[in-house]
Amino acid sequence: VATSKTLLRGRTLSFDREPQGPDDHAAYTYIEDGALLIEDGVIKAHGAFDEVALQAGEAKVIDHRPHLLMPGFIDTHLHFPQVQVIASWGEQLLDWLNTYTFPAETRFVDPDHAAAMATAFFDLLTAHGTTTAVAFCSVHPQSAEAYFTEALNRNMRMIGGKVMMDRNAPDGLRDTAQQGYDETKALIAAFHGRGRLSYAISPRFAITSTPAQLEAAGALVAEHGDCYMQTHLSENRDEIAYTLSLYPNAPDYLGVYEKYGLLSERALLGHAIHLEPREIDLLTDTGAKPVFCPTSNLFLGSGLFDDAGLRGRGIQNGIATDIGAGTSYSMLQTLNEAYKVLQLQGQKLDPLRAFHWITRGNADVLGMSHKIGTLNAGTEADVVVLNAKATAAMDLRAHSCGTLSEELFVLQMLGDDRAVVQTYAAGVAQKPVI
Ligand code: GUN
Ligand code: ZN
Repeated sequence: VATSKTLLRGRTLSFDREPQGPDDHAAYTYIEDGALLIEDGVIKAHGAFDEVALQAGEAKVIDHRPHLLMPGFIDTHLHFPQVQVIASWGEQLLDWLNTYTFPAETRFVDPDHAAAMATAFFDLLTAHGTTTAVAFCSVHPQSAEAYFTEALNRNMRMIGGKVMMDRNAPDGLRDTAQQGYDETKALIAAFHGRGRLSYAISPRFAITSTPAQLEAAGALVAEHGDCYMQTHLSENRDEIAYTLSLYPNAPDYLGVYEKYGLLSERALLGHAIHLEPREIDLLTDTGAKPVFCPTSNLFLGSGLFDDAGLRGRGIQNGIATDIGAGTSYSMLQTLNEAYKVLQLQGQKLDPLRAFHWITRGNADVLGMSHKIGTLNAGTEADVVVLNAKATAAMDLRAHSCGTLSEELFVLQMLGDDRAVVQTYAAGVAQKPVI
């Protein structure tokens, strides 16, 4: 069997740990004339071009100079069936769900629609430099089948699951407690661990699940300890009040998920904005991960995520687009809005921590930094190639950049898919090569 060897040349940047401040230059490896040797989808070597080239043999050389090579971006919360919901006007969370989101998700009962949307969705992710995502699919198993099938075809490391939702949703968009359990179980058997796929058990949120369904979700979590669990938590004040009215015996919102055994270090909790002290203690105790969705939180007027407060308690936060309440597929634009959400609270997001967050940081949130999120030898060859001068505005600004951190900050604030020159998933270029 012929093996495919590729040598990517460019300026390489990979984080070795989380930077402890804007001047923590020991936290990363940056090589001015760097190279990655890729074989069979895996990074075989990362180092200076001169040295790596010696091991490269007949490898095909792709010269990306003067661009930056970084690990592919990781998006830890978004909704695949909301590709046609993004930019829907005028509402906050609960009305937005009822007016726009639920009708759009209902269409994913049709496998042809789901397959067409999956192709478009994956094209969008890779165009924006995202190589791993954790997605909610619709309630229909065929939506998850379309999602996972597309990921398998592209050999991408993707996580997802069909949402479980058995109340407070329209006809055509509800399962039952038993059906949600059975369908999830069958999808785990079909896809979890296949290729680069992992399954996320996905009760949508407490409002759309009966106690019986959350109990079934808890059983699935107990039976499949290597799957993820994803849901939503304390995004919006009306949502919290409604949740507590549906679960009157719960001490607080997170107490609902606690009661049904959903919390562990593999639990991903979208939003987590309006938290009580007991809930924060519970996050610390269980290792469950809040996921910050800045463009979504601003778009829906949900509130400001207290990144520093949670981090101060030793909690590891993910960061994500939350398409379709989020307004950009770009993790760069997500960092831009994150910077502003933190500014409004007197908190700071420096460019080193920002780029760590959307690569190794999110990989750590998933417990996957031994596979993705760095350019380390032995990890999977998911790579994004970035141009900090991609637009006229960026080009003008980049000319006065003296440091790597300044260049990264230009990408963080002004970058989007135009700054993504190429995206490699398991070593395979995802954008047309010009
Ligand atoms: N809460 C429950 N479902 C959703 C959703 O689809 N988007 C957002 N932003 N919040 C939710
Ligand atoms: Zn969401």
